[in-house]
Amino acid sequence: MNILITGGAGFIGSAVVRHIIQNTQDSVLNVDKLTYAGNLESLESIHHHERYTFSQTDICDRSALDQLFANFQPDAVMHLAAESHVDRSISGPADFIETNIIGTYQLLEATRQYWNTLAEPRKQAFRFHHISTDEVYGDLEGTEDLFLETTPYAPSSPYSASKASSDHLVRAWHRTYGLPVVVTNCSNNYGPYHFPEKLIPLIIQNALAGKALPVYGNGHQIRDWLFVEDHARALYKVVTEAAVGETYNIGGHNEQKNIDVVKAICELLEELAPNKPAGIEHYQNLITYVTDRPGHDLRYAIDASKIKKDLGWIPQETFDTGLRKTVEWYLNNQEWVEHIQSGEYKNWIQQQYQTEQA
Ligand code: NAD
Ligand code: TYD
Repeated sequence: MNILITGGAGFIGSAVVRHIIQNTQDSVLNVDKLTYAGNLESLESIHHHERYTFSQTDICDRSALDQLFANFQPDAVMHLAAESHVDRSISGPADFIETNIIGTYQLLEATRQYWNTLAEPRKQAFRFHHISTDEVYGDLEGTEDLFLETTPYAPSSPYSASKASSDHLVRAWHRTYGLPVVVTNCSNNYGPYHFPEKLIPLIIQNALAGKALPVYGNGHQIRDWLFVEDHARALYKVVTEAAVGETYNIGGHNEQKNIDVVKAICELLEELAPNKPAGIEHYQNLITYVTDRPGHDLRYAIDASKIKKDLGWIPQETFDTGLRKTVEWYLNNQEWVEHIQSGEYKNWIQQQYQTEQA
């Protein structure tokens, strides 16, 4: 297959590109604007592969997309490009509306125009796979409830509202124009190459630097963590095996309170990086409770039984094994982190945590 992947230089997209190039015979065209979150160094291991091509393109640029479709002739699109950080969506929602909603619309239209030119059986086999989040469902208050594929949408943040909007557009393009789509909604990912503005890599980096470990509110919010390489495997299964029009929830069966995640990282660092910065006795002493995120979702938890039953996918990593691999990766790849800690990254950290970390 020829697979056009948007956002392939991001955290999950780069894991998907690496997975496909390393484990299949498919060809990949990576279409990425390279925002602050996109980093070609995450693709160094496959960059020179003959089945891999990169194009620095904004998904809002319709004529550029038309050209890419005409030249690459994809059999499938995997759409991951997005603005993805909730806190950034709160302080500046405009880019989220632009990329997540308008960009998805432009990509759908470019895909539809191209798909209409295909002859059978390629036309029927074609897939537009929209990669979305469990945050579209809002949050769960009880400790037992789980998000199902049928849970009504109730997004809380500008990020999740923009992703919900894009999900609706994708399903409308299926219903109205017959575009062969599949949608996946996944829980929080973690693992190598994760941009250090998100909780797990931020805590690892701050601890290593002897900086405060910021926990929003009381730290009792719950996320359902999935190792990114398990997600990549699930996505490939869905794009190659799922029936048209299906939706799959993907999750790690790993519900954790934020404060417990932070403590688990500190414990791993005590073992793996015992030489702490001067003046730090225990990494846990760096934990600092800070002002809560506005509209902070309390709990996410996924029922992933449908993808298990239909496609036989289950995660391979537990939270213990995945978190250990992640901490080890950051310890061994500090150069990757240093390269992405650009001026823009420093400005964001300064603005977001100014009161707590000044
Ligand atoms: P990320 O922020 O790490 O990467 C996003 C990528 O999209 C970057 O490479 C960026 O350069 C690119 N991009 C942004 N705007 C673009 C534009 N206008 N045109 C082309 N490229 C553009 O995000 P991620 O964490 O890898 O998430 C990927 C997808 O998965 C997103 O759609 C996100 O909503 C979804 N998702 C993420 C998680 C998670 O835990 N990170 C969980 C579930 C779903
Ligand atoms: P994050 O990694 O931003 O993912 P999401 O908001 O998409 O779930 O945050 C994960 C959880 O950690 C979320 O409940 C917010 C919390 N959090 C902190 O407590 N401190 C931080 O510095 C960050 C970035 C997040």
